Amino acid sequence: MTMHTTDTIKVRLNRRENATDDVAVLELAAADGAALPAFEAGAHIDLMLAPGLIRQYSLSNAPGEAVYRLGILNDPNSRGGSVHVHANLEEGCEIEISAPRNHFPLSPDAAHSLLIGGGIGITPMIAMAYALRASGASFELHYCSRSESKAAFLAELAREFGDRLVLHFDDAGDAQRLDPVALCKGSVAGSHLYVCGPGGFMDWVIGSGREAGLPEPQIHFEYFSAEVDTAGEAFEVVAAQSGVTVQVGGGQTIAQALKAAGVKVELSCEQGVCGSCICDVLEGVPDHRDHFLSEEEKDDNDQMAPCCSRAKTERLVLDI
Ligand code: FES
Repeated sequence: MTMHTTDTIKVRLNRRENATDDVAVLELAAADGAALPAFEAGAHIDLMLAPGLIRQYSLSNAPGEAVYRLGILNDPNSRGGSVHVHANLEEGCEIEISAPRNHFPLSPDAAHSLLIGGGIGITPMIAMAYALRASGASFELHYCSRSESKAAFLAELAREFGDRLVLHFDDAGDAQRLDPVALCKGSVAGSHLYVCGPGGFMDWVIGSGREAGLPEPQIHFEYFSAEVDTAGEAFEVVAAQSGVTVQVGGGQTIAQALKAAGVKVELSCEQGVCGSCICDVLEGVPDHRDHFLSEEEKDDNDQMAPCCSRAKTERLVLDI
């Protein structure tokens, strides 16, 4: 079961660079000058932006560095986190963050790693590329972007990764378009696929990996935002630890129903992507709506995301 820590770290924004017209690169260091906790490639941190406004961003620098570096897209269609960052976080300001958590780790036994970042989804891939290079592992880094001018980190990636970097721009013709089925089919046996980016892009790449015959344990992904459908029939939820039983209405989430009854659920993204709320299922069958658990974990039906998932049975008993 995923643990969520409520301990926070105060950091100072040491450097902010507007890398493109809509991507800000932020470099964070501990406000008290102490060392920040170490992180692995694929890890993210929560930024506590304002009361009730907690957002996850991937760490994009090389593991082992003393700072945390983020790349944040100003997305006016998101739920306010990125707009808040772009409007309010200036060099020298201090904010609270969580310690790094990694739900998107590299597999130690990949024969070769296909890293595919779409747009701002390049950020965890950069940390992965640094980690794989440091360990002498075989990899290639594919960066898909609408255009060259929209692609942050380009100069660094070209300098650091040379011909392991493959660029795919929507406006640069068919010859350089990403063909993920061909890429996966053409890769050596034992290759692992890693993808991060907008939801539709990820669905396409993940589906391509499956179509190419990659086994499920060799397909890794992290959604950073997602449309979740929380609609459905009413059902009953028992919070076993708290001894509370609630009815979850058609337009309500389990977390909302529990909160209304005074049961605290650790929430962060409320979109089924971050894993903060994952809890154990003691009885009943969940109707998984999240993008966090793997297909195998969903099939086990022994844990679920109460921020968005519902029930296939009339009653669920959760270890909350
Ligand atoms: S709060 Fe993020 S997965 Fe539920």
